[in-house]
Parts: sequence; C-alpha cells; structure tokens
Amino acid sequence: MNPKSDWIEKAKKAAACEAVKHVKNGFVVGLGSGSTAAYAVEEIGKRVKREKLHILGVPTSYQALMLAIKHRISITMLEIHSTLDLTIDGADQIDKKLNLIKGMGGALTREKIVAAASTKLVIVADETKKVKALGEDNHPVPIEVLPMAVSVVMRKIREIGGKPTLREGIKKVGPVITDNGNIILDANFGLIRKPAELENKLRSLPGVVETGLFVKMANLVYLGKNTGVEKIAIER
Ligand code: A5P
Repeated sequence: MNPKSDWIEKAKKAAACEAVKHVKNGFVVGLGSGSTAAYAVEEIGKRVKREKLHILGVPTSYQALMLAIKHRISITMLEIHSTLDLTIDGADQIDKKLNLIKGMGGALTREKIVAAASTKLVIVADETKKVKALGEDNHPVPIEVLPMAVSVVMRKIREIGGKPTLREGIKKVGPVITDNGNIILDANFGLIRKPAELENKLRSLPGVVETGLFVKMANLVYLGKNTGVEKIAIER
C-alpha cells in the first residue's frame, strides 16, 4: 500500500468507527455499501459480539448482505421493518449542505430506499470526498435505468445537458447489471449548482429507476482525515 492510500484507509475506518457509536441496543440499522461502509458493518459486528447487542440490519446491496452474514449481524427486511433507526453509508461526493453523489458501487437505488426509511442517515467517508459543489472534477451522477429504456434515457440526458456513458463491467464484458437487474449510466453534468432541480429532471424521465443524487437526506457526516475525524451535522 502506498502512503497515500494507507492514510485514506485508516481515515475511512476511523470515520466508520465513530459512526457506529450511534448504534444502540434494539436498533434496526441500514447497512450501507462500498468500501467505507464495509468498515462500519465490520465494526457493528464487533460490537454485537462484544456487547451482546440485539440489532437487526437491513442490507443495501448483495455486498452488504454478504458482509452482514460474515460478521454475524442478524438481518431483517423492509417488508418487516419499514422504519429504521439509523443507516450508515458511504458517499462519492459530499457538498457543504451535505447533499451527496452516491452509487459508484452501483447500489444507489437500494441505498436511497433504505436511507429514506431511516430516521437518521449517517455518512462515512474520507476527506477527499468533500467538495465545494457536486459534480466537481467532472464526477458523474450514477443513474439506474431499466434496460429497455437505456437509449431513450441517454438521449434525454443529453438534451438536458448531460454526457451519459454506459457503465461497463470489470472482469465481465458488457454492461454492469445492478442487484435489481438494471443498467447504470454515469452522466457528467459538470458542476451541479442546483442538485434538487437536476434530481427532479432526471426522476421525471420514464425508465429512470433512481439517481445517485441524495439531496437533503444526510443528517451527519463523519469525515476521516489524516489527523482525525471531523463531525459535520446539519439540521433537517
Ligand atoms: C455504493 O453504490 C456507493 O454509494 C458507495 O457508498 C460509495 O460509492 C462510496 O464507496 P466507497 O466508500 O468505497 O468510496
């Protein structure tokens, strides 16, 4: 591991450990996806074992489900628990108002459903994820789309000023297929000055299942840095 990625991994883990302090006995917890959320799932598993906590997890992806099983966290589903006490998840970009871009792991739809069912959404990330405005450095917005609608949605995204590309697999030829059997488009909109407006435009396109823009959803961010963990809270 090079020194840069070494501090980033430590920062991600430290942020995840801070977030897991919010988990209390009896909680139903949304288990996020991605490499930072994975540290949180691991830490929840450690607390369950050490403190004999009775908690139930709702996985946001197949990855989160497998990790919950590995770390012996009991699982429930939204059909049984439609209100969650807390979700801990990662993010790809975080702006000053704690609006987010998520979905570089392709789990955005389930992540958003679970987050919306939660009383509190706590985000864990390293400080490289903090930006002045979403879309900085040409970061794309992941968009989950029904397969038969892909070419129409790509055309409509271009019409509203985006540059969409089809997400393709690594170690698998052709498109990435989500846990829901859909396709992911990564659409570059440049700097996103009005995330809520863009979110509404995208959501109104038939065939769009969900977008990776999480507007006014996060309550708290733990940002891992080289020197410690910064806590950023916002009133909703
Ligand atoms: C998964 O679809 C994503 O929303 C992740 O939470 C996000 O990509 C952050 O992942 P890392 O913690 O691996 O950067």
